[in-house]
Amino acid sequence: MASQQVNHPLFARFYARLSSGMEGAGVAERRDALLAGLTGSVIEVGAGNGLNFRHYPDTVTSVLAVEPEPHLRELARAGAGEAKVPVTVTEGTAERLPADDGSFDAAVASLMLCSVADQAVALAEIRRVLRPGGELRFMEHVSSDSSTQRLVQRLVDVGLWPICFGGCHAGRDTVAAIAGAGFTVKDVDRYLLPESRLWPTTPHALGIAVRA
Ligand SMILES: C[S@@+](CC[C@H](N)C(=O)[O-])C[C@H]1O[C@@H](n2cnc3c(N)ncnc32)[C@H](O)[C@@H]1O
Repeated sequence: MASQQVNHPLFARFYARLSSGMEGAGVAERRDALLAGLTGSVIEVGAGNGLNFRHYPDTVTSVLAVEPEPHLRELARAGAGEAKVPVTVTEGTAERLPADDGSFDAAVASLMLCSVADQAVALAEIRRVLRPGGELRFMEHVSSDSSTQRLVQRLVDVGLWPICFGGCHAGRDTVAAIAGAGFTVKDVDRYLLPESRLWPTTPHALGIAVRA
């Protein structure tokens, strides 16, 4: 059985600081695009410090935000009241979601499928809790389309990167993993954030996948 423990106290504090700066550098606008048009019940997986919460449209009826890391979960709970919609923050991992089969209209994964221990297990679990036809909204940094940057991603991923950044992998082909997990990938916007290839995590993909 997959572990329910994710404890990255240093990374959690680093991310809480770094992420608020990144919001002003273009991430906040991407969160609006990620969540636009969502309706009904939503499960957000690996919600971190809750930066998506204030971007949910009021057509969403409820959000169950699952976050395994204790410090980030505490910050998410503190921020849940800023949302226009009811948000409940709970403990759990992507590999073992605290939810019944087919119980959500949509799932949200942002900047977290890089960090799960096993993407296939996590995506199968997200698929399990979505109703047929339900949407997975994703915003992830992904493997590069530049062979040079891909090589850098591979090198950092076998080096200290995952240890330094809370289990993050720079070069996962997450869109292919989503398609391989029983989703139909409908729309994908690929972009660099920031607009540079110097950092291994700049290639991003933001899109919608439908549970087949
Ligand atoms: C870079 S942060 C992104 C947080 C948030 N989703 C956002 O968009 O700002 C990565 C998040 O993935 C979470 N995470 C790591 N492993 C996980 C797992 N196995 N299941 C669920 N969440 C996980 C971390 O605790 C952290 O909150």
